[in-house]
Amino acid sequence: MSSYKIALLDGDGIGPEIMAEAVKILKLVEERNDISFELTHAPFGANAFFESGHPFPDATKDICDKADAILKGPIGLSHEESQKIPVDMQPERGALLPLRRRYNTYVNFRPVYLPLGLAHFSPLKPEIIGEGIDIMIIRELVGGLYFGHKETGINEDGRRYVSETLEYTEDQIKRIMEVAFKTARKRKKVLHNIHKSNVLKSSVLWNEICVEVAQDYPDVEVINILVDAAATYLCLNPGMFDVMVMENMFGDILSDQGGGILGSLGLMPSACIGPEKAYYEPSHGSAPDIAGQNIANPYSMIGSVAMMLEMSFNLDAEAKRLWQAMQSVFAKGFSTPDLSKAGGDVKLVSTSDFGDMVAEELASMPTN
Ligand code: IPM
Ligand code: MG
Repeated sequence: MSSYKIALLDGDGIGPEIMAEAVKILKLVEERNDISFELTHAPFGANAFFESGHPFPDATKDICDKADAILKGPIGLSHEESQKIPVDMQPERGALLPLRRRYNTYVNFRPVYLPLGLAHFSPLKPEIIGEGIDIMIIRELVGGLYFGHKETGINEDGRRYVSETLEYTEDQIKRIMEVAFKTARKRKKVLHNIHKSNVLKSSVLWNEICVEVAQDYPDVEVINILVDAAATYLCLNPGMFDVMVMENMFGDILSDQGGGILGSLGLMPSACIGPEKAYYEPSHGSAPDIAGQNIANPYSMIGSVAMMLEMSFNLDAEAKRLWQAMQSVFAKGFSTPDLSKAGGDVKLVSTSDFGDMVAEELASMPTN
């Protein structure tokens, strides 16, 4: 039997509630497969800061270092609450970016997936949704503006200034391109390369390397598109995209837009993969306004578990069944109050009920 250690970083806001549902699923997956998980919760985020003075405490680092994979809930507080924490200790700067840096998780897979059964969540018209939306956004996650040199100060005129640099090396671009081409090869063999080379020098190098890597993937068609145009087409014609690759900040923004065209960031799980370690997280924030009410949908957290099963533990078939299990719960008309209003065909259930129903669906499916 294979045995894996998983670090569970519950995070802030709705984090602990949706993590509890992910744990339910992990326990069921253990029962159904020849696999065992050792699950260890560790504090991370704003709560960790208030408890121990650091949003990414050393003890948590140690648990993550020893883990085979990390499952992370959302972090952060409302804008007002965040102000109570020193800028560099706020959970985004003090915990999340250091987590990405520590494990060099340079690939961020963000599926933007809307099967027809979920089409009613989308704000797009049926004729635009067509047969559904199925895009894999690949975001470079440890370079660019978010990790470049930052400086603030007073200039010679006595005025405040700020400078942040967008830095990439050719190796950083090459390795994300390799992942993008390999992913495109496994899917529809079309890669949309997102850039802004009419303005940014970083995009000029990005595109040069895209052309170089493309030599090794003659079967993959590359379509270059400016990031601002891509934002428009995501709304007007999402069906034209299959795999999209882009630098860090473009990916942050366009993947949220991906959540927008699905109808909610609550439908956006993600996987962050480094050379040795991977962590999995919903793409959304901690939704402090609805925390503790048992109304947040755990789809993006359970979807992150599905990505973990496939990418860290080679349980591809079980991962597919888990996706199906979630789709079936929606297809039967159940939803949570954060995603839907009661009425029509929608039957509202709580976070934990939704998790139970997904578990029940999965339990009813045959194993391999
Ligand atoms: C995301 C988030 C983070 C990011 C924040 C919380 C730092 O928005 O994962 O998309 O900007 O990468
Ligand atoms: Mg974001």
